[in-house]
Amino acid sequence: MEPSMSLSAPRIPGRRLLHSPGPTPLPDAVLAALMLQPMDLADPRVMALIGDCEQGLKALVDAPADAELLFFIGNGHAAWEAVVANLLGPGRAALVPGGGTFSNGWAEMAAGLGAEVIGTPHAEGQPIDSAAVEQALRDDRDHRIAAVLAVHTDTAGGITSDMAAIRRALDAAGHPALLVIDAVASLAAEPLSMRALGADVVLGASQKGLMVPPGLAFMAVGQAALASARDNPVPRWYWDWQRRVAPHSYGKFCGTPPLPLLAGVRASLGLIAQETLPAVLARHRRLAGAVHAAVTHWAAGGGVGLHCRVPSARSVAVTAMDLAPGHDGEALRTVARERFQVAMAGGLATLAGRVVRIGHLGDQNEAGILGALAGIEGALGVQGIPHARGGVEAAIAALSVAPMH
Ligand SMILES: Cc1ncc(COP(=O)(O)O)c(C=O)c1O
Repeated sequence: MEPSMSLSAPRIPGRRLLHSPGPTPLPDAVLAALMLQPMDLADPRVMALIGDCEQGLKALVDAPADAELLFFIGNGHAAWEAVVANLLGPGRAALVPGGGTFSNGWAEMAAGLGAEVIGTPHAEGQPIDSAAVEQALRDDRDHRIAAVLAVHTDTAGGITSDMAAIRRALDAAGHPALLVIDAVASLAAEPLSMRALGADVVLGASQKGLMVPPGLAFMAVGQAALASARDNPVPRWYWDWQRRVAPHSYGKFCGTPPLPLLAGVRASLGLIAQETLPAVLARHRRLAGAVHAAVTHWAAGGGVGLHCRVPSARSVAVTAMDLAPGHDGEALRTVARERFQVAMAGGLATLAGRVVRIGHLGDQNEAGILGALAGIEGALGVQGIPHARGGVEAAIAALSVAPMH
């Protein structure tokens, strides 16, 4: 059902197209799964549900067989805090490679919790500089850095960094730090293999590529990271990984499990399996290519442009579109939402007002993307933002030749 401003607000017919990079639209199968009556926690269906989610999520990130899949009731920030609480502490610094708003946020959180945080320089519109990561690791001669906390896709800038390059930086520097990857925005959108990357932790949340409401964070934790956490004397309870490696549902969640969210995740994993993961990833790449084609076309008019300056780093999940000075991203969003029924996300932190973000993540298809781009082109016109008309045609042209698999 469409959310309404108030009971007396006029009904908006049809469906508003949601193109935020999270929360993303819920497929009908997920909506239906969320309508689950509670079960008593001894019901074997509870453990079967949790087990299916654990196995499915481990497969999604290609986790090693002996990795543990741990859940936390919470959003992506909860997953971040779990990592900080388990891996960092006195004598255990974090290297958080500069990559945009979300790297900054994670670094700020770790520092706020008392951890020593080392960063690397970051230029707006660019992915993580893996050479700077390697240098920071080489400079850390006494191995104070316990973990590299790397954000795969910076959702604020629409930029995906090369996680294999971060792995190579660790290997080249001969540094033993653990590799922790934030896949909140890249899960089920970008190819990601914990095994191939030799990653120690991969974390995600329910509300983006998984197409489930927010509220469930999870992480695959390898044996080396579990051992490091076991040796970490910093006090913690709710976040403690060791406590979560439990045989029963109450232990796994440090309390009552959120069964409807788990049912939503199971339904989502079923949809991904039905479509097949390679086809899901190919669809994300195809739809992103259409959005990139449209924005590139509009950019000839001078009022907008792609925020990501490196074509190979453009995210398949979300496109951040720069606005020329003097144009207000929030006003553009409002016109797109209220007049054209296309909901975009806004700019975050230093990008507030300067960019709008077009989500193409999760339960999206060609018709929805073309409709959204048409609405955004309409809103650009209403707002008088200079752009070359015909972005939708450019997107159609891109979709017409993009490989289906
Ligand atoms: C890459 C990334 N990491 C972490 C977060 C934080 O997640 P949450 O908003 O669920 O706390 C987000 C949110 O958009 C994100 O995009």
